[in-house]
Amino acid sequence: MTEPHRWTMKATRHYDYEIVETTDLFDPDNPQLRRLPDDGGEGTGEGVGARLVVMDETVEEIYGRRIRHYFARNAVSVEYLTLPGGDAHKTFEQVLRVASRLTAIGTNRRGTPPIAIGGGVVQDVVGMAASLYRRGIPYVRVPTTLLCQIDGSVSAKTGVNYEGCRNRLGTFAPPPLTLIDRGLIASVPERQVRSGLGEALKMALIKDAELFALLEEYGPTLVAERLQDSGPGTRALQPGRTVMHRAIAGMAEELCKNLWETDLKRIVDYGHTFSPVVEMTARPELCHGEVVAMDCVFSAVLAHHRGRLPLRDLERIVNTVRRIGLEPSHPMFGDPAVMRQALTDTMRHRDNHQYLTLLTGIGRTEFVDDVTAAELDEAARVMAVLDRDPHTPLADACASRPVGMAA
Ligand SMILES: NC(=O)c1ccc[n+]([C@@H]2O[C@H](COP(=O)([O-])OP(=O)(O)OC[C@H]3O[C@@H](n4cnc5c(N)ncnc54)[C@H](O)[C@@H]3O)[C@@H](O)[C@H]2O)c1
Ligand SMILES: [Zn+2]
Repeated sequence: MTEPHRWTMKATRHYDYEIVETTDLFDPDNPQLRRLPDDGGEGTGEGVGARLVVMDETVEEIYGRRIRHYFARNAVSVEYLTLPGGDAHKTFEQVLRVASRLTAIGTNRRGTPPIAIGGGVVQDVVGMAASLYRRGIPYVRVPTTLLCQIDGSVSAKTGVNYEGCRNRLGTFAPPPLTLIDRGLIASVPERQVRSGLGEALKMALIKDAELFALLEEYGPTLVAERLQDSGPGTRALQPGRTVMHRAIAGMAEELCKNLWETDLKRIVDYGHTFSPVVEMTARPELCHGEVVAMDCVFSAVLAHHRGRLPLRDLERIVNTVRRIGLEPSHPMFGDPAVMRQALTDTMRHRDNHQYLTLLTGIGRTEFVDDVTAAELDEAARVMAVLDRDPHTPLADACASRPVGMAA
């Protein structure tokens, strides 16, 4: 038998993309929104044909008139499509709706990149459509929720929920340009702001003790002011701006090292191990950042019980979650069977490894791969106490912590 011929292909794809902060994005004199991603930022790019502008339904209600005025004043040829927000609408049907409009208006390969203006749901849907249309076209991302500005805005991922599983179908397709206008958060409902701060908390816990201190000190103010600057000179530090910058910078630094997730050990998955199943099945529904914060607490309890995280740090974490106005626990986190199943499901996503990020302090982590079912049960027991009786001191709830662990 002759040796088979073999042709080996080797290729790398270099990828640059930028996240640009701006203000008054819908002011017709601001060139950012109309510029083509690779025009050097001058805002002179004019595509060949119409560009599709996809707006979240609520964004359309609040900003639609200004957005239409913006493109009309700048004589940019655009067509509009409005999509609903909310995870129930993160479906492949919505992706096809976008693809169908791209086809209808004759979107070409590079010159007329669509613009997605909305929260994480619209971004994930439009991003996925753009990554499939003609096998991938560029698009521009304008995140309008806090969660999406500090997390999704940096990410390379798109996706939709499928057959009851979060983000089961999706692609890696970062857009060349993301525009962040913190002013847009002023209209975001308080609950969504708290949810966004849940992701900021995750970032703080895994690598940024200073960010944690800001959340700890200014949690209620950040929510009340929706991360907007207060009047000039009233406060030297603008916590909203600093929190956003630090959260984005932390995410960017982490993702750059492992953008395509060839390494399945990712500290940014902290808060995302036990939460997906809760996020998909809890009724009434919970927001993404709400379950992420609960998962952060659950994982911190695990670390404390292993003797790796001092009680004082755990107390600060739970306290900060509450100061942001988030709940540290939920009955599903107090159910050992749910937590065991959650870890099993997530391990499939990590090639049957736990690769669990646990804290060794605030802003410090380690990976573990040997958490036992008994440890999960014990952490779930603490979460059940936190959920049922928020007044129980953590020291009592964690009474079975290892002897010798500093309080
Ligand atoms: N691709 C990624 O890497 C990535 C990262 C983080 C989160 N996500 C995904 O993002 C989704 C959650 O994102 P989200 O919290 O932005 O949800 P969302 O897109 O559903 O938005 C939340 C709600 O806020 C409304 N809204 C949006 N902008 C507004 C504004 N400026 N003013 C008032 N209301 C506004 C929306 O209509 C919606 O009702 C999840 O599906 C999650 O999986 C993806
Ligand atoms: Zn997340």
